Amino acid sequence: MKITLNVNGRPVAVDADDPQMPLLYALRDDLGLHGPRFGCGLSQCGACTVHVDGRAVRSCVTPVASVAGKRVVTLEGLGTPSRPHPLQLAFIEEQAVQCGYCINGMIMQAAALLQTNKNPSDDEIKAALAGNLCRCGTHIRIMRAVKRASATAA
Ligand code: FES
Ligand code: FES
Repeated sequence: MKITLNVNGRPVAVDADDPQMPLLYALRDDLGLHGPRFGCGLSQCGACTVHVDGRAVRSCVTPVASVAGKRVVTLEGLGTPSRPHPLQLAFIEEQAVQCGYCINGMIMQAAALLQTNKNPSDDEIKAALAGNLCRCGTHIRIMRAVKRASATAA
């Protein structure tokens, strides 16, 4: 069956034999959007996070059919190379990336936080990112990057 989605502001149709297929597979395999990563596939790590109608969701456990007609935004749709999102800029400026595997989820989760709280405290940032795992241990620089972005965006 064909499922129509709106991804990064554009209508797209994906083929899904199984409507329960994870949104992550459609994004990566059908649409070539490799910002969202496959980490655990079990909603445990946050690497696959995207926005659906402005909310951060884990695309590895979100059936593609459940987002038909909704607005999906991936890391690629957050900013552009010439006009990066303040978080994308801040993560570069703070050199917050080591292997990079978790960074999609960190940025997408933080972006959802900044949409509702433009000047979060350290504790609020920690709480928002608590479910996003980073095995490289760059948490201190990630915190600095989110603080920097919130100062820019505020
Ligand atoms: S891959 Fe989705 S939460 Fe880990
Ligand atoms: S930078 Fe490697 S997992 Fe976070």
